[in-house]
Parts: sequence; C-alpha cells; structure tokens
Amino acid sequence: MNQFSVPASATRRSPLRVATTLIAASVVAAGAAVALASSADAATTLGASAAASGRYFGAAVAANKLSDSTYVGILNREFNSVTPENEMKIDATEPSQGQFSYTNADRIVSHAKAQGMQVRGHTLAWHSQQPGWMQNMSGTALRNAMLNHVTQVATHYRGQLSAWDVVNEAFADGSSGARRDSNLQRTGNDWIEAAFRAARAADPAAKLCYNDYNTDDWSHAKTQAVYTMVRDFKSRGVPIDCVGFQSHFNSNSPYPSNYRTTLSSFAALGVDVAITELDIEGSGTAQATSYRNVVTDCIAVPRCIGITVWGIRDTDSWRSSGTPLLFDGSGNKKAAYTAALDALNGAPPTNPTTPPTTPPTTPPTSPPTSPPTTPPTGGGCTASVTLNQWNGGFTAAIRVTAGSAAVNGWAVTLTLPSGATVTNTWNAVAGGSSGTVRFANASYNPRIPAGGNTEFGFQGTGTGPSATPSCAAS
Ligand code: XIL
Repeated sequence: MNQFSVPASATRRSPLRVATTLIAASVVAAGAAVALASSADAATTLGASAAASGRYFGAAVAANKLSDSTYVGILNREFNSVTPENEMKIDATEPSQGQFSYTNADRIVSHAKAQGMQVRGHTLAWHSQQPGWMQNMSGTALRNAMLNHVTQVATHYRGQLSAWDVVNEAFADGSSGARRDSNLQRTGNDWIEAAFRAARAADPAAKLCYNDYNTDDWSHAKTQAVYTMVRDFKSRGVPIDCVGFQSHFNSNSPYPSNYRTTLSSFAALGVDVAITELDIEGSGTAQATSYRNVVTDCIAVPRCIGITVWGIRDTDSWRSSGTPLLFDGSGNKKAAYTAALDALNGAPPTNPTTPPTTPPTTPPTSPPTSPPTTPPTGGGCTASVTLNQWNGGFTAAIRVTAGSAAVNGWAVTLTLPSGATVTNTWNAVAGGSSGTVRFANASYNPRIPAGGNTEFGFQGTGTGPSATPSCAAS
C-alpha cells in the first residue's frame, strides 16, 4: 500500500499545528486516518481541519488563475491539496503524438510544492479531452499510444503526486451497468487494468485511483458496476488503491442519503475512497446542508482520505451558473463553507484532558448525537460484520459499537471457516490468520464514545466468516 503524508501547509502557521501534523502524518503512515482534535488547533481553515483527522481538503486549480491574487490567497489559506483542472489531461500533456507538454501542469505542481500541498494527478486515460490525433486512432495503435501516454506522464511526475486518477469515467450512465463505449473501450475490455499496471510501473508511490461521476448512489447500476470491477481488480491483484467519487451534485443528481454506504462499501474492498470533484449547485441553507452531509459522511469513513472541491469561487466553476462552490465570486465564504468547516471540526471528539501519551482515536463511523459521557467506565460492545464474498476471496467490514458506556479498548473475536486465511487487516491488529482470530484495536483507535462506533476490516482468501463475532471491551 502506498502512503503519503499529510502536507504541512494547512498547519504551518504555528508550532503547535506543525507538531500536530507531524504526529498525524506518522500515524497516517502507520496505515489509518487519525483524529488529533483540539478546538484551538484545527478550526479555522478547511485544510487544517481536515489535516486534524489525517485527511486533506483540496481544490481544482487552473494554471491561468495563479496570477489572480484573490484566488491564490484563498487557495494558499484554505487548501492543502490541489488537482489541476485541465492541465494534466491528455490533450494538454500530449497535444501531438510523442510530444509532451508539461508547462502549465508543472506550474501548478510547483505552486503546490512551494505551499506544502499535495497534488492529485487528473487524468491519464479518458474518452474525453483527447487530442485530435488520439481521437482518430483505434485498435492496437491506440492501445499502445494510451499505454505510452500513461507511462510518459506518470514517469514525468514520478514521486511527486499523492494520487493519479488513472482512468476516468469508463462506465455508462443509466441502468445497463456496462462500460461506456469509447475508442479506448473498443481496444479491449482489459484497457483499464492495462492502464493501471502501466501507471504502477511508472510511479510506484502514487495511489492509483479509478474516478467517475453518478457513482454516488449505492442503488445505481453504474455504482454497482464500478464496485464489481474494483472487487475483481482487488481479487486478481490489479494495482488499484483508491476510488474517486466526482460528486457533481445538482437537482437532477442530488446528494443521495445512502452516500455513506457507498463510500464505506467501496472502502471495505480494501481501497481508499476520495471525493474528487465536489460541487453542489444551489444556494443558502439547502446547499450548505448538502455540503455538511458530504463532509460528515467522508469523515465517518476511516478510508475516506480527503475531499476536493472542483474550483474555488463560484465564478471559477465549470458550472458557474449553479453557484456550486464554497466561496462567492468576490471570494467571500458562503454558508456552504461554514457548514463544511463545521462538519470537518466535528471529526472526532478526543479527550482534551488526556495526556499525549494516550493514542489518538479514529473518527466514529457515525458521530455520536451527544457528547461522549464522562468519565469512560468500560462496559460492553457489540460487533457486526458486512461481508463481500467472491469466488476465492472476501473482504469483511466490522463495525464495533459501544454500549451505554464509552470503551477504552476493544477486541473482536470471530471464527473463520476452514481454509480461510486473513491476508490484510486495517484499523485493527490481527492475532492470527486462520481459525479463531482475535482482532484488537489498533494503537490509534482504542476509544469509542458511549453509543458510538468504529470500523475495521480485513481481506482474506477462501470463505469469509458467517458466525456472529464476539466483542470484548475494556
Ligand atoms: C471539466 C473542467 O472543469 C472544465 O474546465 C473543462 O472544460 C471540462 O472538464 N469530470 C471530470 C473533470 O473528470 O475533468 C471535468 O472538468 C468535469 C467532469
């Protein structure tokens, strides 16, 4: 698994914040999002608030706006990740076949680096925004040109990007669950995995993502089709690390109430999830509520690693008439901004009186509706399993829920069917790999507030557990 650090930018304004970030980065490097909340620490910008739980808050950036001082002022103050809005697309980076052009993309990467921000690369293989020469190609020539493009561009940015959207928008809308027809698709159904393998070879450090829109609603055929592909990739060892949800919402495609289920279900496959192109058309309270819901859902899912909004001011948006962003055309914060920031700061309660030697906690998957009771007195816990089984393997997502008292540590024991082996565990420490296995809390997620919950998961070969797990709290 590739890891990247929380950038320092969002926390660079005080020694306290820098120290907090370093702790957060080291714990993230150990494999999970963390929460290091102190109300004085993370409350004032989107990036700093996201970094307090090991996440990032990013924006799509256009190179030609880097000379706009209002734009750059907001970018540098609020965000700790950037995605080039158009500058890394195929038509921008390879306008003539074999001739690569990185000037504008490099300007964005340089700006981000100078600010300590991370960069999401977008995108290596896509049916849209292809240069004319590629649009006119087909068959083996196109397949080879695509793979060369992936290799060249990923090599140029090797080691510099946190993630790549390797393939963008490869599935059809509607109820078919089919691949989108395109010149790339017509080169053979394996074009997506071929692109991922080429990207991994060229830049082993970048997380490799599949990115799409209209995949937010868990009940939609397109969502299920992408899920099935990712599950298949994971089972066959195709190098995929993350799934991006564009999340362009409007009245035709509103925020779905099962969004958190979508995020956590993909995460249970053993990939990170990210919200990659968020914008929500509307205004006022309704828009703010949708932003709050999206952010709350992300921070409730331990493997939701960050959120990127698709532009800074409403006037910067590709859908500017829908005023879908967090800042108005003058750069003022909108109600949606305050809702997003408040939601980020709701991630997760830590005990401010606890000395720093006590490990930080992970966010509960559903924030408790009331503050944690004090002091924690131990008490019971329960565990439930959501199993994704395929031929020869499975992932299990386990939700650990505290009873009426907070718990300061937990262990879940479950019995695997004969022949099953645990191959990978996240957010817990496995005490074995077959038979009856005890999963103890990781160092960073022992505490669950009364009535709250946390999630861990594991992947395995064979048949996943069907018996009810037991849970012991301390
Ligand atoms: C959009 C850009 O914002 C526009 O400037 C450009 O004209 C078209 O593309 N899905 C994606 C993004 O993955 O690359 C798109 O960005 C928006 C939809």
